[in-house]
Amino acid sequence: MKKSPARTKKSAPRKAAASQRTITKARPRKAAAPARKPAAARVLGTASRIAQDLVGVGTKDPAGRIFRHYWLPIEVSADLGEKPKEVRFLGEDLVLFRHPNGKPGLVGRKCAHRNASLVMGTVEPEGIRCCYHGWLYDCTGQCIDQPAEPDRKKLAASIKIAGYPAEDRYGIIWAYFGEGEPPVIPPYDIFTRTDGFNRTVKSYHNCNWLQVAENMVDPLHTSFLHRFSPLTDVVAECPRFDKTEDTQYGFVVQSTRLDQGHSRLDHFVFPAMNRVAVNHIHPPLEICWFVTPIDETHTLSVTYRFVPNPPGADEEAIQKRVKFVEDMDKKIPRNSPHESGSLVFAQDMWAMESQGPISDRNFENLANSDKGVIRLRRGYWDALKAIEAGRDPPNVLRDASVKVLNFETGIFHRGADNFDPARRNAHSPAEKLPV
Ligand code: FES
Ligand SMILES: [Fe+2]
Repeated sequence: MKKSPARTKKSAPRKAAASQRTITKARPRKAAAPARKPAAARVLGTASRIAQDLVGVGTKDPAGRIFRHYWLPIEVSADLGEKPKEVRFLGEDLVLFRHPNGKPGLVGRKCAHRNASLVMGTVEPEGIRCCYHGWLYDCTGQCIDQPAEPDRKKLAASIKIAGYPAEDRYGIIWAYFGEGEPPVIPPYDIFTRTDGFNRTVKSYHNCNWLQVAENMVDPLHTSFLHRFSPLTDVVAECPRFDKTEDTQYGFVVQSTRLDQGHSRLDHFVFPAMNRVAVNHIHPPLEICWFVTPIDETHTLSVTYRFVPNPPGADEEAIQKRVKFVEDMDKKIPRNSPHESGSLVFAQDMWAMESQGPISDRNFENLANSDKGVIRLRRGYWDALKAIEAGRDPPNVLRDASVKVLNFETGIFHRGADNFDPARRNAHSPAEKLPV
């Protein structure tokens, strides 16, 4: 595990503490005690150091090791046509293509012969053939043909470039960058629903993946960053009761706005997915928002949105909704980086990128409202400990018989069972809301 860099911002308080110790040297021993940092400050310091260690996504970096245990969304299915694409994930330059049978292939970008890019290659039933001298690679990256060699297969057998398993499922192209048998792609609830329609979009961010993931577990920001959006009415009040609770897949963040009389539940799901419901707008949206690191300073978001049919709606009303969402999506430049699909998301993107390509945690001061952020960072650290102990991190699904993973998410009004965490969780009566 990498050693955390020292926190320069805290040097001033440390100096002050040192001088206090000097002044109090001659006093009775008991009087020196207040100079110690309170326990809470040490906890927050740890969270900042963890964040610094989570920036890297290489094979030996903590976050790189975690992400390599999961299927990661890397493209919207509808955006991958017949032409191969240059892509980059977890710091690796790759080429993504679609076999004639529709199955995606993902291999290293450079041909092992003389480094031509395979993005100009031709796709064949067995794989992708380099446009320069015709070497052919299968989807594991194994070279299987060298047309100009006396024995077309012999030397080829010793040549291999990177190649990763890729799947086209639920309208998303997924890739597995780990070793060994890949797990199951989790069947999240809205992937399997048929009582509505879905659309998936992607966005690129000019910043480190953790800044994007932290936005998912930060319920306070909606009251400020999104105050001039359709969310205003329901989230204008700062949440006055935040709580995080572990789940089977990650943890849930509950933020309660007492005056407005509602509580919001958002799920964080490993490795970096936000299962959220925007159920107070029309049409309401159920969302799986995935974050995939491109490299240390670039990130991909893939957002799967499910729009449930209103009860009793006829076909005309449903088609109206489909058109509404499609018209909205047409405004998104689908393959243009750094554009967003909605005003709200544009606001998020601006805030995340304005923290810098890699937010300098030496200059952050976590507060009470950052419970979700602290929980997230510690969650990654615990996940890494699990990996180091030879176990799977959370939400690595190995059981192919699991048909659906359900989540309770959205805004719950006063009186609903989910409004009050003490009613949701009998083990936390002390946290009953002051209602
Ligand atoms: S560079 Fe690819 S076959 Fe020669
Ligand atoms: Fe936001």
